[in-house]
Order: sequence, then C-alpha cells, then structure tokens
Amino acid sequence: MTSSPASDRSTPRIAILGLGAIGRNLLASIQSSILPGAPVAALVRAGSTAAHGHAPGLEIFTDTDALLRWKPDLAVECAVHEVVSSVVPPLLQAGVDVIVVSLGALGDAALRESLAAAANAGRARLITVSGAIGGLDALAAARGAGIRLVRYTGRKPPQAWLGTPAEQVCDLGAIGEATLLFEGSAADAAHLYPKNTNVTAAVALAGVGFEKTGVRLLADPAVSKNVHELEVEGDFGRFAIRLENSALPENPKTSWLTTLSIEAELRKYLAWPRR
Ligand SMILES: NC(=O)c1ccc[n+]([C@@H]2O[C@H](COP(=O)([O-])OP(=O)(O)OC[C@H]3O[C@@H](n4cnc5c(N)ncnc54)[C@H](O)[C@@H]3O)[C@@H](O)[C@H]2O)c1
Repeated sequence: MTSSPASDRSTPRIAILGLGAIGRNLLASIQSSILPGAPVAALVRAGSTAAHGHAPGLEIFTDTDALLRWKPDLAVECAVHEVVSSVVPPLLQAGVDVIVVSLGALGDAALRESLAAAANAGRARLITVSGAIGGLDALAAARGAGIRLVRYTGRKPPQAWLGTPAEQVCDLGAIGEATLLFEGSAADAAHLYPKNTNVTAAVALAGVGFEKTGVRLLADPAVSKNVHELEVEGDFGRFAIRLENSALPENPKTSWLTTLSIEAELRKYLAWPRR
C-alpha cells in the first residue's frame, strides 16, 4: 500500500472528469446514495456552460493542475478520448486512482503504454469499467486455460450509425434488413469507428487483446435498442451472452447499463480498503 496526501482523510475526494450525460448522472448518484456529503469536483471544458454553472456541493475546475491542487483521491473519467490522453496521465502520476469510461481511447497501443507508465510512476490504479457489456469476468477467467475465439457482434438501429464510416458502406435510411458494416479485429474497429468502440475495447482488454478480438458491426432495422453479443470459446468450454440495452434517458447514444456499471465499480472501490 502506498500513501497519498489525502490518505489521512476518512471521506474520499472524488473528481468527475466530464459533466455530460454520464457525469451528471454519476454526480446525482454520488450525492444521493453512493457517498452523500463526499467532497466532489468536476473537470469541465473551458468555455462550456458547465464551467459557469453552479451545483450545490460541487467544485468546478477547467484546469488539470487546479484539480490536482484540490487533491482528489479518485477520478472517474467520463468525458472524451482526448481527456484519457491529456488529463488521466498526470492524475495517475500524482497518485490519483482513475476509473476510465471512454475505453475506446485504449485502442491506441501507445496511449496504453503511457498510461501504464504513469500509473507505475504514481503507484496509482487505472480501473476500467465493463460499461455497456457483461461477461468480462468469465472472459478474463477463461484466459487461464487458453481461448480459441472471442467474437463481439454489435447491432444498432441504422440511424445510430449516422456520422460514422457506415454512411459510406450503405444507405442507412433505406436498408430493410440487417447489414454488415464492418468485420475485422478490435484494433481495426478502433481506427475506423473510434466513437463506437468502447465495448470492443472492454472485451479486448479483458480477453485476448485488440488484434485477436473479432468484431462485427451491423445496422439492423429490426432492433430498437443497442444489442451486444459476445461469444467465447476455449478449453474451458464456451459461452455466449446477449445484452439488449436501453438508452440513458439523458443521452440516446449511451446505454443505461454503462452508468450502472460505473456506480457498481465506484461502490466496489469505496468498499475496498484504500491506501
Ligand atoms: N465504456 C462504455 O461502455 C461506454 C458507454 C457509453 C459511453 N462511453 C463513453 O463515455 C464518455 C461520456 O459519455 P456521455 O454519454 O456522458 O457523453 P456526453 O457527450 O454526454 O458528455 C461528454 C462530456 O465531456 C465533456 N468534455 C469534452 N472535452 C472535455 C475536456 N477537455 N475536459 C472536460 N470535459 C470535457 C463535454 O463537454 C461533455 O459534457 C464518452 O467518451 C463515451 O464514448 C463509454
């Protein structure tokens, strides 16, 4: 166990990086049920409306150094990929544990290495959430006996793919049946569909890595929810899991299960003996 400047305080100081749909939802849960009364701060984008807003019991920062001077014990990143590469490393280096939600950023091997180096230097923990997918505990356990196949299939309604390279694959407004948009590795999916690869990254990190994780992405007019399927085969046997996720009321692009998984991770972190 290491010590941190905050280790003698009994109530952990929690920083939320990004106050969008997930961040606001998390703030409300922390204040109402997870840890009412805990000191909470948010890092927001300079110039955003949140930077000028005021929420009771919340400190707002637009600058990483100022946030560090506030001495958080734990940060939850729920902003954008760029925050994972620019804000998370200095926090880890300063000994702050970080729960990362924008997992798609971790498709970048160089960033994974620099985060690992920062965590080592600060003797801090980088924690990833399962987010919108499940079954990662079984996948991670199965690794021990060797895995032959990990295949993730993601299905979303056609309109959910607007603004992505899927627009070059088919006419999203006209398709009448499930249409394959991408088939390849999680590494290639991370390059081509960076904003849609939080789940593939979670699967790759828990299992056999980005190069060996197979990914299929489909636009499917028959589904109204985001559907995630995971098939795993190895010497342990096989399993298949299918999730049909409802959207977070505040953001139709984000699965409700994601916010619930962050809350579960935070509760687990807080229950565990800390430094
Ligand atoms: N792991 C998963 O399964 C999973 C599922 C859904 C979403 N996500 C990811 O979680 C993240 C948040 O999702 P959301 O639905 O809340 O998105 P959102 O768009 O509602 O919120 C993102 C927030 O980040 C803020 N932001 C942007 N740049 C910033 C900066 N430099 N500093 C501080 N804040 C900054 C934006 O102003 C915005 O308020 C996204 O990266 C998303 O891809 C992960």
